[in-house]
Amino acid sequence: MSDWNKSGWRAMPRVQMPDYTDQAALNAVEAQLSTYPPLVFAGECRRMRDKLAAVSRGEAFLLQGGDCAESFAEFSADNIRDTFKVLLQMAMVLTFGAKVPVVKVGRMAGQFAKPRSAPTETENGVELPSYRGDIINDLPFTSEARIPNPAKMLQAYTQSAATLNLLRAFSTGGFADVHRVHAWTLGFTESDEAERYRDLANRLQDALDFMTAAGVSDTTNKDMSTVEFYTSHEALLLEYEEALCRTDSTTGAQIAGSGHMIWIGDRTRQPDGAHVEFARGVSNPVGLKCGPSMTAGDLKRLMATLNPDNDPGRLTLIARFGAGTVGDHLPALVRTVKEEGANVVWSCDPMHGNTIKSSSGYKTRPFESVLREVQEFFDIHNAEGTVPGGVHFEMTGQDVTECTGGVRSVTDETLSDRYHTACDPRLNATQSLELAFLIAEELIERRAPQKVAAAE
Ligand code: PEP
Ligand code: CO
Repeated sequence: MSDWNKSGWRAMPRVQMPDYTDQAALNAVEAQLSTYPPLVFAGECRRMRDKLAAVSRGEAFLLQGGDCAESFAEFSADNIRDTFKVLLQMAMVLTFGAKVPVVKVGRMAGQFAKPRSAPTETENGVELPSYRGDIINDLPFTSEARIPNPAKMLQAYTQSAATLNLLRAFSTGGFADVHRVHAWTLGFTESDEAERYRDLANRLQDALDFMTAAGVSDTTNKDMSTVEFYTSHEALLLEYEEALCRTDSTTGAQIAGSGHMIWIGDRTRQPDGAHVEFARGVSNPVGLKCGPSMTAGDLKRLMATLNPDNDPGRLTLIARFGAGTVGDHLPALVRTVKEEGANVVWSCDPMHGNTIKSSSGYKTRPFESVLREVQEFFDIHNAEGTVPGGVHFEMTGQDVTECTGGVRSVTDETLSDRYHTACDPRLNATQSLELAFLIAEELIERRAPQKVAAAE
């Protein structure tokens, strides 16, 4: 892209980024990061684009999930493993239950920087800059903790590299082997959902045993013993993104080396802003959050800027409107995409439009609202004849109590039991599985009419 360079964003208006006070320290960190190896490679990002192109045609389903914000304090092999396990379980429900291939993507190995609704927070009459994620400043409510510190970028890079290293090992080193489908369950998930999962895993095991006995196919081959797993995060902190930007030696294209897929948040998607400027020039798959203020005009402009060649798999539109209001916003945007003949993946983030303050004071999300938004998303695509391509969740493998409701009901009163998120409330493993079963049912229903048509 001849009219783009990785520093061009610096000339554009920026929002939601920290004002670093120590310019020399910032420059030194950027210089250091720019000598480090990229975390992902261009060929992987191209492959992910191909997979997402299949999603845009309705031939696969996108499952994207992980923490709202990764944290330095919660960094551990167990946490990474457990989130990965839940994603594998959800993917299995969709693949074996609904018979669709699933593109598996973590909000992991780079999801550190957070946009905030206000630049400052006030507690007991004291006003301090907002916490913006561990890559920028610290959570404790002290003026020192809230000073943006560029050195934190180096720690975020190191943590991302270690996380990705473990994810790669899990994906290809035997952990994700389909024969281990029973081993992905988590100890605490005793519920109807866990029971349903066990049933499905038993059926899968039977099918594998049958195939082996009949010599129908080699069930130990690479497709059965490994998974492809991709990473993603919001490309919010552009100094970090620029420092990890690299040129792909095989194609000459620019690539964000910080993760396979990056997305632009709902608060930073100004068509003439810094974040759109950065994202337009890198060849990774790009996500674009679409909230209630997104107009058809904005969307047209953003599609033209971010995907001028209309490549399928390049752009994923992540709808996040809030339960009960999807019908007010999504149909017009879906029609705009249709009129433009644009190739996009439509994904549903049922988290960010459904955040409320509970009576006990915690920020939460009622599970019923999350379910309802997913349902509305599917209904609208079914009515418009378009493809509901995927989902985007904030979730964890930890047994947290952050979203209310679900089969093992979390209430306003029990939110405090295990409320660990550094930012937004996440679905726990049981709630995540329940959603996967619901989505599988939706996908089965969508396929049914086609099957009938094909038989005629
Ligand atoms: C997020 O995904 O954590 C986020 C802040 O989302 P949005 O930009 O949609 O509000
Ligand atoms: Co969030």
